[in-house]
Amino acid sequence: MHPNLTVVQHPLIKHKLTLMRRTETSTAQFRSLLQEIALLLGYEATRDLKLTTEHIHTPLQEMDAPVLEGKKLVLIAIMRAGQGLVDGMLQLVPSARVGHVGLYRDPKTLNAVEYYFKVPQHLHDRDVIVCDPMLATGNSAVAALDRIKKGNPGTLRFVCLLACPEGLRQLAEHHPDVPIITAAVDERLNDHGYILPGLGDAGDRLFGTK
Ligand code: URA
Repeated sequence: MHPNLTVVQHPLIKHKLTLMRRTETSTAQFRSLLQEIALLLGYEATRDLKLTTEHIHTPLQEMDAPVLEGKKLVLIAIMRAGQGLVDGMLQLVPSARVGHVGLYRDPKTLNAVEYYFKVPQHLHDRDVIVCDPMLATGNSAVAALDRIKKGNPGTLRFVCLLACPEGLRQLAEHHPDVPIITAAVDERLNDHGYILPGLGDAGDRLFGTK
């Protein structure tokens, strides 16, 4: 479905995702579960970050100790639900820079239309992780990655909570080079572009707007 796909296999992720799917899960629970899973997905998505060494003094002696190489990591939220994933990952990498891409889905065509774009400068020197909980049609993800690639980022990854075959095929066609890290791959999309069985509208559930 995608040449660069990682479905993170961890019992805590599976359990928390099941809680998120349940209709009766409250907004507060949904929000904190998304942050908890984001932290676990972030652990996997940052596995390959490059290290260098720094000479430090412990209370007992000196040593060359590993530290992250290069400029600060960039987390980019595809608005609005991507913010929930970014909030969780910031607990793991508090010094990360944050960008936002605003895209809405045209209800008729389901195509992505950009209305906001603000990301940190000098992406060419940075590792970038793009966050959107739901990889549904893939149109938003493709549009966001098209736009972000113009900044020529050092490395680029896409993290989502749920993917489906349609979205994965779309990303495989347009961005086969971008690794995808997800908690699960669901069955399919419905006629309105929602993932089945899914968890409903991630933005509404995260922000309590419905
Ligand atoms: N966006 C959502 O929030 N949920 C879906 O199932 C698909 C897209």
